[in-house]
Amino acid sequence: MVESLGGGALLDSVVWESPQSHPPLWEDEIHVWQSHLVADAGTQSLLHSYLSEDENERAARFRLDRDRNKFVTTRGTLRILLARYLQARPKDLMFLLGPEGKPALTAESAGEMLSFNVSHSQDVAVFAFGQNRNIGVDVERVRFDVEYDDIAQHYFSVGEMQSLAKLPRGNRREGFFLCWTRKEAYVKAGGRGLQIALDSFDVNLEPGDPACFLRGVHASWRISSFMVSNEYPVALVYDGAPADLKFFDLGNVRRLQ
Ligand SMILES: CC(C)(COP(=O)(O)OP(=O)(O)OC[C@H]1O[C@@H](n2cnc3c(N)ncnc32)[C@H](O)[C@@H]1OP(=O)(O)O)[C@@H](O)C(=O)NCCC(=O)NCCS
Repeated sequence: MVESLGGGALLDSVVWESPQSHPPLWEDEIHVWQSHLVADAGTQSLLHSYLSEDENERAARFRLDRDRNKFVTTRGTLRILLARYLQARPKDLMFLLGPEGKPALTAESAGEMLSFNVSHSQDVAVFAFGQNRNIGVDVERVRFDVEYDDIAQHYFSVGEMQSLAKLPRGNRREGFFLCWTRKEAYVKAGGRGLQIALDSFDVNLEPGDPACFLRGVHASWRISSFMVSNEYPVALVYDGAPADLKFFDLGNVRRLQ
């Protein structure tokens, strides 16, 4: 039998605006951008020209052109979006890496205020931007070739395994991906990688229910889930005061030129 998504909406849909000009980011807002990582050769080479020496070295290490192009497109697009918020030039921005590899802007790049996180899955990238907060974002395409039971056993908490088992069989794959993106977004927000034990906290995973933390997470952390098209669940985790979430669609990266 061919497996398909379980029918009803995984999550409430959000409206992705396509702004004509770059929107200002206010302190009480978080901006989430989705983009399709499809760039023609001209755009690729423009985006490539924005990368730093380190980023170029990293790009050169990818064995597959497809993976290299995705990295260049994602990083170049990130530089363009950050530069627009900061009224800077994409090439001039400098990043530093946290102890587990989370990129942030250096203080010289006015990075003390603007925080961000990035995630990509297949041809979709999601970028989240806020001010003076920690942010983590994760997008995953719901894949049917993944043996989700084995992975869940390995990474999910006892409570999450029980929640997954309670779902009707036809909803379990979606439940798995909702749980996965939520856990990953929380881990990414803190930037501590696997120093956070994945079974030390619980998220909910019922399709259609708003995202929440159920255990093991300080009350200052907030979580939200939404979809890009109907195949890509996204989770966003941030700290601080509740934010007004704004959603923007960059469409094809060609529009950036
Ligand atoms: C490093 C890690 C955060 C990347 O996650 P991923 O799903 O492979 O990739 P994503 O597309 O979501 O995110 C990659 C981006 O996150 C950012 N990033 C890298 N390291 C990061 C870190 N430690 N924290 C937050 N963000 C990080 C980078 O911008 C990166 O983009 P780049 O590869 O183009 O430089 C991830 O491998 C990891 O450590 N996960 C730990 C938890 C885990 O195993 N979770 C299972 C969930 S149940």
